[in-house]
Amino acid sequence: MTKLSKLQKFAAIKTYENVYSSKRHDSPFVINSKGQEVIIKDQWHKHFNNNNPIILEVACGKGHYARGLGKMHPNNNYVGVELKGNRIWTGANTALKNNENNVAFLRARIEFMEFYFGKEEISEIWITFPDPQLGKAKKRTTAPRFLDVYRNVLKKEKNLVHLKTDSTELYDYTLEVLEEQKVKILYTNDDIYAAPLDFPELDIKTFYEKMHLEDNRKIKYIRFTL
Ligand SMILES: C[S@@+](CC[C@H](N)C(=O)[O-])C[C@H]1O[C@@H](n2cnc3c(N)ncnc32)[C@H](O)[C@@H]1O
Repeated sequence: MTKLSKLQKFAAIKTYENVYSSKRHDSPFVINSKGQEVIIKDQWHKHFNNNNPIILEVACGKGHYARGLGKMHPNNNYVGVELKGNRIWTGANTALKNNENNVAFLRARIEFMEFYFGKEEISEIWITFPDPQLGKAKKRTTAPRFLDVYRNVLKKEKNLVHLKTDSTELYDYTLEVLEEQKVKILYTNDDIYAAPLDFPELDIKTFYEKMHLEDNRKIKYIRFTL
């Protein structure tokens, strides 16, 4: 198979039915596979053609969690949110080839998620191996301003947020923020593979997770509700 360049991947995802791209960071419009400007906020059920729960993977990279969970739970819908088009291409291309119709991707910045998801449109959020942003606490995807973004789109009742990380700093920081905000922490584990997994979903391994495991880093997990 010929390898596509980054530009070819950017062009390809524009034509994919399972990818929406934000037009500008401060606008609710996204571009669909026909090149039309549409509003997807509160309309994701129309994309999926059902009213099943919608779960996000944020900073999804190649979308391993979105796709892995999609296979594990066919009655849920998954949207991977990611900035980099070439990473989205990998997930979206594979999902299309395998008819994974309960998986879609949004090319956008997490900070602006409120433009693309309605209030209570989302049931769960997975944050998978985000950059720990050492030295830049405000940029961490579990910083208070990001938790507010998540609160705005999550269902008020029974929502779940999952953080999977190799970073001790991000793990400790997140627990501190959650405790400060009196958020209900449902589960923590600073070395999930030290014993049999408590949740089968944790067995899904992302591109970055595989690299961290090769470096013998311990994988940590926090589950909470906002
Ligand atoms: C360390 S990678 C992890 C990717 C993937 N979750 C994995 O585990 O393989 C972090 C990802 O976050 C994306 N990212 C960083 N800041 C972002 C933002 N503000 N909005 C959306 N994606 C972002 C990057 O482009 C990158 O793909």
